[in-house]
Amino acid sequence: MPPSSARFHPPMNDLQSDDLQSDDVQTRRLEPREWAAVFPIVMQLRPGLDAEQFLDRVRRQSHGGYELVGAYRNGRLIGVLGMRPVHTLVRGPHLHVDDIVIEESERRAGGGRALMAYAEADARARGMTAVFLDARPEAIGFYQAIGYELHTTPSMKKIL
Ligand SMILES: CC(C)(COP(=O)(O)OP(=O)(O)OC[C@H]1O[C@@H](n2cnc3c(N)ncnc32)[C@H](O)[C@@H]1OP(=O)(O)O)[C@@H](O)C(=O)NCCC(=O)NCCS
Repeated sequence: MPPSSARFHPPMNDLQSDDLQSDDVQTRRLEPREWAAVFPIVMQLRPGLDAEQFLDRVRRQSHGGYELVGAYRNGRLIGVLGMRPVHTLVRGPHLHVDDIVIEESERRAGGGRALMAYAEADARARGMTAVFLDARPEAIGFYQAIGYELHTTPSMKKIL
């Protein structure tokens, strides 16, 4: 599947041709045969998983609609996002972003924004009305910079 090209920051008409090259992030869904190759980036977010556990979980989650999206700069994978459709009484049809990580050396250069823009466009195209996610404290500034707001429902858990 060819990557869908999306350019972010600054607007295209402010860019020189060289800037277009360096600032260009492409995003697309990953095929199952590509999942293994993204593990080195995913482990920067999920260091507790080994490659086999990662693939096993993605396979299981894919039965519920979970998909991986890759971000590329100059043809090189720089980031990954994992998302799934959810439909609940309280929230209706929405997209849940479970995982997002950009290669450490590539952060703060628009990759995260591009992945979230892909997920949002995809959610809109599927008739969903919102995106929800659980944010790490250190990533809250990122989400706020791209238009997300904190919501007040406390998240609770019990380890069994
Ligand atoms: C969070 C993460 C995905 C952001 O990706 P990124 O490519 O660095 O972000 P972008 O360059 O697209 O940034 C988009 C905007 O968010 C801002 N931003 C990015 N990271 C930020 C942070 N940690 N705190 C505050 N603002 C941040 C950028 O400055 C930019 O704002 P601007 O458009 O006003 O200049 C990336 O830092 C990452 O992989 N972190 C480690 C894994 C992680 O914590 N994932 C989230 C789990 S909830």
